[in-house]
Amino acid sequence: MILYDADTLSARVKELGKEVETFYRGKDPLVVCVLKGAVIFFSDLIRNISYVLDIDFIRVSTYGTGSASSGDLKIKKDVESDVKGRDVLLVEDILDSGYTLYCLKQLLLERGAASVRVVTLLNKRGRREYDIRPEWRGFDVGGEFVVGYGLDYAERYRNLPYVAILDPAVYRKG
Ligand code: IMP
Ligand code: MG
Repeated sequence: MILYDADTLSARVKELGKEVETFYRGKDPLVVCVLKGAVIFFSDLIRNISYVLDIDFIRVSTYGTGSASSGDLKIKKDVESDVKGRDVLLVEDILDSGYTLYCLKQLLLERGAASVRVVTLLNKRGRREYDIRPEWRGFDVGGEFVVGYGLDYAERYRNLPYVAILDPAVYRKG
């Protein structure tokens, strides 16, 4: 079932881009894409920001039992920039328990970032287990598993141009 079609996403990302653009004007932000899920949101978002900025990429994985993240955060691909003194904006696809972004934010602050803020396309309200609040979010969603526009199920469906609720039959078959 389609939740947000391409036009809806594009309009909302444009609005977010303008908000972020206004906030960071004159601050020379470092905009970091949390791979892989945020890749499409990130590419669309930064094209709505008109001034010069730096971009970087980080890829992490979290291990745990069940559907919520817990346990160790592993950095699979680190940022290449020195974050010391930088105003960092983390761009994420979806906030669920909040574990991933909670850990990432701590890590970048420990490395001396001047500030770390979060923009997430989707926010699973009511699922938060860690104290992390996104400064900007595209849409609040329920607990359903969603795919498309970068979001995957078992590495698939990232290329869908819309966000859809995955038919539970797909993951029940396992
Ligand atoms: P958290 O660490 O529990 O906040 O989980 C965030 C990560 O879990 C996201 O970056 C996604 O990779 C993944 N995730 C959580 N919910 C979904 C979903 O509904 N669809 C696809 N990926 C999800
Ligand atoms: Mg992700």
